[in-house]
Amino acid sequence: MTVAACPTIEQDWLDPAFSADPYPSFERWRALGPVVYNEPGQEYLVTGFRDCQQVLRGVQHFSSEDLQELFIRLFGGITMEAIDTARHHEMRAVWAPHFERRSLESMRAQIEAISAPQVDAFVERVRSGEVVDAVANMTRAIPTLVIAKMLGIDESMHGEFSSWSDAMGATQTGVYDLNSERGQLVIAEGRAGTAALNDYIASAVRDRRARSGGEDLVSIMVNHDFAKQMSDQEIVASNTQLVFAGNETTAKLMATVLVALGQHPDQRRALAADRSLVPQAVEEIHRWQTIVQTLPRRVISEDAAVDSVPIPRGSLVRVLSGAANRDPSRWQNPDLLDISREQRLHLGFGFGMHVCIGVHLARLELEVWLNQILDKLPDYELAENIEYGRSFALRAPVAVPIAI
Ligand code: HEM
Repeated sequence: MTVAACPTIEQDWLDPAFSADPYPSFERWRALGPVVYNEPGQEYLVTGFRDCQQVLRGVQHFSSEDLQELFIRLFGGITMEAIDTARHHEMRAVWAPHFERRSLESMRAQIEAISAPQVDAFVERVRSGEVVDAVANMTRAIPTLVIAKMLGIDESMHGEFSSWSDAMGATQTGVYDLNSERGQLVIAEGRAGTAALNDYIASAVRDRRARSGGEDLVSIMVNHDFAKQMSDQEIVASNTQLVFAGNETTAKLMATVLVALGQHPDQRRALAADRSLVPQAVEEIHRWQTIVQTLPRRVISEDAAVDSVPIPRGSLVRVLSGAANRDPSRWQNPDLLDISREQRLHLGFGFGMHVCIGVHLARLELEVWLNQILDKLPDYELAENIEYGRSFALRAPVAVPIAI
């Protein structure tokens, strides 16, 4: 395959120093041009907001279907995220009405009830003088419990659900590290997590088919007309992906919010005093510290180009959403966190055909949880330096130790 004429860089996505703060590197690459070629990954990187939107919009050139193999490995089958044809819209339409903002309002009280005991137990320990890791002891659990509730999963299974999902999530870093023993172990554990989750979901699918009329998301899918055109593998993988997507990313955004507000106590106090700012504060933090940093696409046409840079057919292109979210041509002082900033669409939830279906659910969970935190713990400190491990692809702090 020929390589397009554009500046070349060498970036190891697993470098912990890079995960800790990728933003200076993004600015160096942005200064080189609209597209740079990363030699180790043999991939083209796109940093500009508009250019990233163009790639995500242009499915006739930049395809997600390359993800199918990855999704079979991750979730046990193909899901809507790895389909670019009309079939994607039909699959998405099965659940879309249940993820609309208005239909989710009925979940608010349930989310409050799920989140409150987690927040209370955490705050009680912090108030008693302990340094407590908010990830292990609060944020990781909440979205898992919410999605488990929506899927109609028995409460006794929630602990196992979390550990299967965590193992599955860790493969995101394992795939960049296939040649090391650690990478192989992460992949093996991820496969076991996926297999266990697939088995459990498959039994839930059989159960819901046997007793029609349920209102949980598994029932809604198996009883939908379009399900007749979906293989069992697709149905099971779609539900498995929902566990992962509903859990991993949302928990990571919660951890990121705690760090951002810990580092900016003035803005935290302003927020505690005026709760109408909560939704926009969450969006601004998500723009400033993006969770899903990279969206991969495969070039499937002969005439694909980004900002007049032609990209050869067959190439891997990475939208760098975190870089796009700090594009200085879209945001003034983009490196500054400012919760009072005028809100503009960012790419943290993707864009175009595959834009996140769970965006309103994630926002609702964040809003409910953050209000509870601000009620119970308006003042806190980050007890140690925050580390990001090797989490670049789904970037978030590994732990958030909190004290008062
Ligand atoms: C803060 C939390 C979340 C973030 C940052 C996030 C981010 C994203 C991003 C960037 C995409 C686009 C992927 C691409 O273009 O390839 C996406 C798609 C998706 N997300 Fe989320 N997500 C979050 C929460 C959720 C939740 C709560 C759910 C469901 C329970 C969910 C389910 C999905 C699904 C099914 C897709 C694929 C949509 C499609 O292909 O049409 N996500 N998400």
